[in-house]
Amino acid sequence: MNIINKIDKLEELGEDKIFGIVNEYKDDERDCKINLAIGVLVDDNKLFKFNVVKNEEDKCKTHGYLSISGNSNFTKLHYELVTGNKYTDELVYQTLSGTGAISLAAKVLNMLDYKDIYLPSSTWTNHNNIFKSNNFNINYYDYITKPRLDNDKLLESLSKVKNSLVLFQSCCHNPTGVDIENDTWDKIVELMKQNNNIVIIDNAYQGLVSGNLDEDNYSIKKFISEKIPSFICSSHAKNFGLYGQRIGGLIINIDNKKLNNYVKKIIRSEYSSPPYFGSSIVENILSNDDKYKLWAKEVYGQVIKLKKIRVHLYTKLRQNGIMWYDIMNTNGLFYQTNLGIEQIKKLKIKYGIYMLENGRINLAALNLDNMSYFVNSVKKILK
Ligand code: LMR
Repeated sequence: MNIINKIDKLEELGEDKIFGIVNEYKDDERDCKINLAIGVLVDDNKLFKFNVVKNEEDKCKTHGYLSISGNSNFTKLHYELVTGNKYTDELVYQTLSGTGAISLAAKVLNMLDYKDIYLPSSTWTNHNNIFKSNNFNINYYDYITKPRLDNDKLLESLSKVKNSLVLFQSCCHNPTGVDIENDTWDKIVELMKQNNNIVIIDNAYQGLVSGNLDEDNYSIKKFISEKIPSFICSSHAKNFGLYGQRIGGLIINIDNKKLNNYVKKIIRSEYSSPPYFGSSIVENILSNDDKYKLWAKEVYGQVIKLKKIRVHLYTKLRQNGIMWYDIMNTNGLFYQTNLGIEQIKKLKIKYGIYMLENGRINLAALNLDNMSYFVNSVKKILK
């Protein structure tokens, strides 16, 4: 069989569930269109840029190679930001943002012959892609968030998972915006320990719940202090606005240095070494007290803005008889509406409002100018 026949035999595959919608949005020529599909911070209908990041852009001079595990100043500072601990000689790798960190974790675990992964029943669509393409059997634990997180179901389903891999999201749960409370994290950590599980933590939004970088990582600190084998996968796409620079990190909380050269071998064969430019921006900010403070203030500013958007939206919806009460219990960029697939299609076709098929909207893309249009459009499609 030649390659053309082989391609013909493949099943038709749709576009990516997030980037595909963004492409449709780009092609839409209507002025009224709103892109609520992708998770980015927005200011005045444009991508939000941190001032403190802007100020560093001209200071990063070299185009030389980084080492396989990345910029060592960056990885040290990254470790300290994510875990709240001083770096000594833990296993840390600069990765191609959060996706790259999860994908690297999947490859390492694959090499160690793990076959099963448990994901939250509602999760970021790309978690499925990453683990499927690394040949894992995908299972789900209950993450039921309407009208609020069902802790009993969550803990009950996790109690059945043994000797396996479990993925959690540290904060600003994607797509629901509904997070696990600290006392439930304590119980989860105990369960993971009793059941001999390994955890993978997706930490893509640190800082964007409370504005306090050292508060949003409660679960990570707990998994580390309780010595749960953990793969902590963090992104600096949102909390530094470095989306396209692909800056993130993988921390492997396992005390066995033999793994190091194996991880580096995987990196070398996948992409050789990570990008320099964005890592030096993060390094410059995290290593300087004044810049750090400015950055943390800007992160906090985004949190306040997201809270205001929630209040405005909730109020406006209520005035129009639409009761999305649970918006106020959500964190970060996202809220998952109850809208069905036909209603979501109508919003797109009739009103140019683009959101994910699973009902997720990015609240950061709403503002005082487009909010009434959004609410009125929702009202019309609900009739
Ligand atoms: C999202 O969920 O919209 C973002 O994390 C972007 C992405 O890569 O999917």
